Amino acid sequence: MVVGSLRRESFNRRVAQAAIEFAPPSLEFHFTEIADLPLYNEDLERATVPEAWTRFRADIKTADAILFVTPEYNRSVPGGLKNAVDVGSRPYLSNVWNDKPAAIISVSTGAIGAFGANHHLRQALTFVNAAVMPQPEAYIGGAKDLFGADGKIANEGTRKFLERFTNAFGAWIERVRVRAP
Ligand SMILES: Cc1cc2nc3c(=O)[nH]c(=O)nc-3n(C[C@H](O)[C@H](O)[C@H](O)COP(=O)(O)O)c2cc1C
Repeated sequence: MVVGSLRRESFNRRVAQAAIEFAPPSLEFHFTEIADLPLYNEDLERATVPEAWTRFRADIKTADAILFVTPEYNRSVPGGLKNAVDVGSRPYLSNVWNDKPAAIISVSTGAIGAFGANHHLRQALTFVNAAVMPQPEAYIGGAKDLFGADGKIANEGTRKFLERFTNAFGAWIERVRVRAP
């Protein structure tokens, strides 16, 4: 699980936690953090590779699949998340995203559920040859009103949607695994 927001009270992280809660028991989730990844600079591949890059690459490599939960910043993904995609994609021929089943949930306080971020992320992940689940798509808007006083999702429709989405993701992971050479 990769969360695109670095904010302590992030709505995206809360949705990520809710997705875990409503996911089928066959799926086991771990968060891998992106906040400490130095900005991608190819020179560092030839010097001392940052420890955080090595840790992140290993996390992605060993995961069976990746669920991204991201906000939208100025109609795109937050820079930190794009940096994480770049870090995972290099060095050339060691791209850890290759053939990795993935899915995207985008969450914003706005009305259109971070559609722009969702599709920019989809574009980059497709280029690095991740197998991004095409359907169902997940655009969650109005994030300020999603949660009750206990911090959990109050809206029954969103809870049901997360259950359906994570079940579809489980099926997608199996489908990609069967097709892989
Ligand atoms: C730099 C910046 C740019 C933003 N741009 C957008 C945007 O393009 N579209 C949108 O729906 N919300 C935008 N927002 C609002 C975010 O949806 C809102 O801050 C949201 O809570 C971020 O997710 P988080 O709670 O997980 O941190 C932006 C917020 C910031 C800080």
